[in-house]
Amino acid sequence: MAKSKFKRIVLKVLKWFGVIIALILIVLSIVVIINLNYDRPSLYVSEENLQKEFANTDTRQIAEKLVAEMSLDEKVDQMYGEPFGSGMAKLATNFLVKKRFAHIYVGENERLGIPPWVLSDGPRGARVLGKDVKGVTTFPVGMARGASWNPDLEYRINQVIASEMRANKVNYAATPCINLLRHPGWGRAQETYGEDPWLLGEFGVAAVKGLEKHNVMACPKHFALNSIENSRWVVDVEVDERTLHEVYLPHFKKTVQEGKPASIMSAYNAVNGEFCGSNKELLTHILRDDWGFEGFVTTDWLMGVYDGIKGVQAGLDVEMPFQQVYTPEVIQEGLDNGEITESDIDKIVTRSLATRLKYALVNDQDNYPTSDIGKPSSIALAREAAEESMVLLKNEGILPFKKQEGKTIAVIGRLADLENTGDRGSSDSTPLYVETPFEGIKKQQEAQGNKVILDDGSDLERAKELAQNADDVVLVVGFTHEDEGEYIIFSREQMEEEAEAGKSLGKVTIGGDRKDLSLLEQDEKLIKALHPMNDNLAVVYVGGSAIDMSTWEDDVPAILFSWYAGMEGGTALANILYGNANPSGKLPFSIAKAQKDYPPFTPYTKNFTYGYYHGYTLFDKKGTTPAYPFGFGLSYTDFAYDSLAVKTQEISLGEPLEVEVNVSNTGEVDGKEVVQLYMGFSNSAVDRPVKLLRGFKKVHLKAGETKKVTLDVAVEDLTWYNPKTENWEVENMAYEVYVGSSSAESDLLQSTFVVK
Ligand code: BGC
Repeated sequence: MAKSKFKRIVLKVLKWFGVIIALILIVLSIVVIINLNYDRPSLYVSEENLQKEFANTDTRQIAEKLVAEMSLDEKVDQMYGEPFGSGMAKLATNFLVKKRFAHIYVGENERLGIPPWVLSDGPRGARVLGKDVKGVTTFPVGMARGASWNPDLEYRINQVIASEMRANKVNYAATPCINLLRHPGWGRAQETYGEDPWLLGEFGVAAVKGLEKHNVMACPKHFALNSIENSRWVVDVEVDERTLHEVYLPHFKKTVQEGKPASIMSAYNAVNGEFCGSNKELLTHILRDDWGFEGFVTTDWLMGVYDGIKGVQAGLDVEMPFQQVYTPEVIQEGLDNGEITESDIDKIVTRSLATRLKYALVNDQDNYPTSDIGKPSSIALAREAAEESMVLLKNEGILPFKKQEGKTIAVIGRLADLENTGDRGSSDSTPLYVETPFEGIKKQQEAQGNKVILDDGSDLERAKELAQNADDVVLVVGFTHEDEGEYIIFSREQMEEEAEAGKSLGKVTIGGDRKDLSLLEQDEKLIKALHPMNDNLAVVYVGGSAIDMSTWEDDVPAILFSWYAGMEGGTALANILYGNANPSGKLPFSIAKAQKDYPPFTPYTKNFTYGYYHGYTLFDKKGTTPAYPFGFGLSYTDFAYDSLAVKTQEISLGEPLEVEVNVSNTGEVDGKEVVQLYMGFSNSAVDRPVKLLRGFKKVHLKAGETKKVTLDVAVEDLTWYNPKTENWEVENMAYEVYVGSSSAESDLLQSTFVVK
């Protein structure tokens, strides 16, 4: 009896348990379905009356009018992405179920007919995908493109990225990343363009112009001094005024003033004691008051601002991606306490609306069909970019490999047949396909009647034998998203603990900074084992920044930096290795002989001081010879420089300096050369770098051809920032002019001129 009662109770419990589970599953499925099939509203002003009313009015006036009609809650609604809970559910569901990045809609106001804007990351291709889009054109990473030294290429690349963003119903690009590479260990080095403010500025402007051409709001990031990854949410970067203005900000200034981006993203870290998202010195005094930026500032995601009142006071416009501190309660309290005024809020909302309405009023969406994604010209551009960015560092006459039939080619290494387009953090994109190094070489060489063999290098003896019996050996070494990239952890607490401990606490993460710059042990072992086996062996490095090659570089006959080369990387690599394309990339950073030659760096820290010197300015100042200088890269042809002429020996403020030089291709094949111009300050009364890059041009020269190359420098670009007067000052003195093929003194012709 008791037994059957017990049984009944168990059955009852099980029944209810089943019902509860079923209910939970139903609710979960509804949540998933809703979140996967979220609405994709139009990003354009669609109401006819509004279109007419707004058509002939300046967007600032429209914004003012709209703001005047808004309640405080409606204004606050303009100041963040989506509500935290629902936004997070949407982001997480799409990520987990579909592995895609959801559209986050910002600032919609149906009552007033204001459409939202939508952000996509995308330094190497659009990240947010439309409903039925499987992938996009994926380019080499930013650092690779920086190595192309070709801003026109960057302009064209960003036009493709922007068009594909539009096809995916996005109108705001969280790119370009123009943080300066202070130390090669920085995990996100691959996203930016190099160590030099001038190079960064030229690329920043080109990227912004390319994006904005297609009615996409560009958002250079991360403003500012964001060059340590593993402590990015917690580190306070200390910097003196000269270092800040002369080293870490000039590229942002140029990008803002010449590129005119709609927006800027603040960085996670603090600068001189204040987090960037609430840093009034950066967001208001420098960005707006000094540089005249008229767009709007958004935070970096989730840990971008901690104090809503300070954010408003600092001039931060939009909290992304979710509402955390820009809430009606926080704002109301600030108003009640008198810490902020409603006109502060009006200013914020007006400036973001005035900017975004310019984009929302031009509904050219029909020009961007999804069928254009990955069109042949875009794929060809991805290949061109990969070819132009590869840097040939060493070549003892083995490259290009000989074109002939009947060869056996061994492609060896863990990364030889890996689809490896770089970081899997925010700079990831979904490529339409990826041509691996092995696939690219195989496709090309099998068509020539050659045999291409793949080996992952895990068995050294097998790899040695293969290398010994091959005609050409391509050894692919380097990194993946696991070794470097955005530091993927989900706990600020963990980051804080690690920063306090000054070391990793061993919890599982991916990406992040590289503390040690050597290759992984297995790669070094493979290089050492294979180089004695074959004289025709080229080491191909895949990665985003400098490495320490000191233990093996002397032993190998050829080294090629191929970077994370994008979806067409394999084809481009084959073209470079077999001479269908001539390498023309130059290092966008210096590579030291020893790791101690770089400025100090630690991934785990709460306070860090950035000094005035890094990269080539540090090597120059200390007289340290780098392993490979900034601006260096070999070609399959030779270039000669002569007849350096400074056209104007004496100039005054406002006059440009004109420099001319003859560059000749003295070799057998056509090629491209990056002509670099540096200014020298040896007569300065203050401590200044030995020289600074102040111009460059990439020129194509046929075999035997000579071209006269002209470069201009404005006197304003010779100034230094005087912290006492808080002004940029020009020194009346003689300056050196250096022109040549790299930053190494031996590669430069020299002349002088005087500023009166
Ligand atoms: C990154 C930003 C990125 C954002 C959105 C952040 O973690 O630092 O660069 O734009 O995520 O994905």
